[in-house]
Order: sequence, then structure tokens, then C-alpha cells
Amino acid sequence: MYHFKLTITNLKTTEIIAYKEKIDSTRLPQHIAIIMDGNGRWAKAQGKHRIFGHKNGVKAVREVTEGCAEIGVKYLTLYAFSTENWNRPKTEVSALMQLLFLTIGKEIKTLQKNNIRLNVIGHINDLPESNRKALQEVMEATKNNTRMTLTLALSYGSREEIAEAVRKMAADYKDGKISMQEITQETIGAHLYTHDMPDPELMIRTSGEHRISNFLLWQMAYTELYFTEKFWPEFERNDLFKAIYDFQHRERRFGMISEQLKEQETTND
Ligand code: IPE
Ligand code: IPE
Ligand code: MG
Repeated sequence: MYHFKLTITNLKTTEIIAYKEKIDSTRLPQHIAIIMDGNGRWAKAQGKHRIFGHKNGVKAVREVTEGCAEIGVKYLTLYAFSTENWNRPKTEVSALMQLLFLTIGKEIKTLQKNNIRLNVIGHINDLPESNRKALQEVMEATKNNTRMTLTLALSYGSREEIAEAVRKMAADYKDGKISMQEITQETIGAHLYTHDMPDPELMIRTSGEHRISNFLLWQMAYTELYFTEKFWPEFERNDLFKAIYDFQHRERRFGMISEQLKEQETTND
């Protein structure tokens, strides 16, 4: 009788898929919006203070900004501070404002190097004077950059954005500048902070939360939503590419049926 001794060496290889190569560069989303969430929980999980998480989130901002510019995304909008975030403990709010101030100063080099224009949406007047000045300087310095527009949503709340638009249109109506018929989806869009950019095709939220948290409510009517368990400080360029790859495998029907879309595709060819 023969005895076979089989030794199996279990070479466990963790496969890292490089999603960049899998992306179809002819079908990129023009505009990606991101809810950068999970800084606090990421820090707490390692026994650190929440602020440590915010500081480490800056690296992820650079990763996605460069990643988007690198593959040819034209608009990237990052939710950095909501109107509701003012209700956080005072120490956290001031630490976030200070971090924002330091980051704006430091990141101008990255923006110029990558030919990126900085834009801000939200209630900018609520921000500390020093932050407003720093933002204005960077916006002015980068205004002629053409590769991509990076928009920071700061003291941003979508319901307030819509309320502001309604107030402006009501005033225009009262002054006889617009008629009732001119209050359309297009004119409402034109009164929002985002009037000069297309609606986002893809929205990413990190940290496993599945909600919108008052972000771009009007603009996201037909946006594809992508959620990942990763906390924001862990989010890397390849995660962004993975989200884009996932987006490219969805069927965006806009209320129609699959067959109609296929027909459109063949007539467009
Ligand atoms: C996102 O991370 C950053 C901001 C909202 C400013 P959080 O601070 O919300 O982190 P979690 O969600 O509490 O972990
Ligand atoms: C949304 O995150 C706002 C930003 C990422 C800036 P929050 O952490 O404030 O959202 P909620 O409170 O969990 O919905
Ligand atoms: Mg959060």
C-alpha cells in the first residue's frame, strides 16, 4: 500500500484589482459628488480623538482630486461641512475651521500643478473671516484653470439653497422681471449655487451610511448612488476608480425601459 503525502502550500494572494485600467474613458461621469463621511469613527476605532480623523481625511481629498483630474472628470464636488454641522461641539467646529484654513493654504500648489479651479458652494458668509479670505484668494488664483472644477460644499444645506432660489425668484416676479410661466425646472436650476455645472451622475458616500444628509437634493434627481463601508480617511484613488467602474456597469433608464435604451444606442451608432 502506498501512502501519498500531499503537501499543499497555501499561497494566499490578496488580489488587488487596479480599477483604473478597467474604466472606459469614453463613458466617464462628468461630475462626481462625494459625501466624505466617517472621519470621527475612523479615529475613535484607534483610540484617537475625532480631530485626528479630520486631519487624516485631507489625504483622501488629495487622492480623489488628483484621481478625478488624472482620468478626465470635469467636476468634483466634496461635501466638507453642512449647515447642520454647526451644531457639533464648539471645539470640533473650530478645529475643523482651522484645519480648513491650513489646508486651503497648503493645497493651492496641488491645484495649480493639476490645472484645477477651486469653487465653493454654501453659506460662505457663515465661515470665519480668515477662511473666507483664504478661499477667495485661491478661487481668484485658480479661476483660469481648465482641467477640472473642484467645488467645496461649505456650510452647505440643500434645502436652504432651494429656499434661497425661491426667494430670489419671488423677488424677480414681484419686480416684474419674470412671469409665472418662467418658473420652470431650468430657471430653478439657474438660481441654485450649482447653476454653472452639470448635475452629478455619480454620488459616493463613505462610512456605510445610506443617506443624503441634505446634499444636492435637487441636483441628484437621477444621480447614481454608490455607498462604501470604508471610512473617509481610508478612501484611496483605487476606491474612486472602483466606484466609477461600478457606475459604468449600471443601466441609467431615466424612466424608460431597457429595450428603448438599446434602440437609442443602435440609432446613435
Ligand atoms: C465627516 O466625518 C466630516 C464632517 C462631517 C465634517 P464625520 O465627522 O461625520 O465622522 P463620523 O461620521 O462621525 O464618523
Ligand atoms: C454629512 O455628514 C456632511 C458632511 C460629510 C460634510 P454628517 O456626518 O454630518 O451626516 P449625518 O449627520 O450622519 O447624516
Ligand atoms: Mg458623519
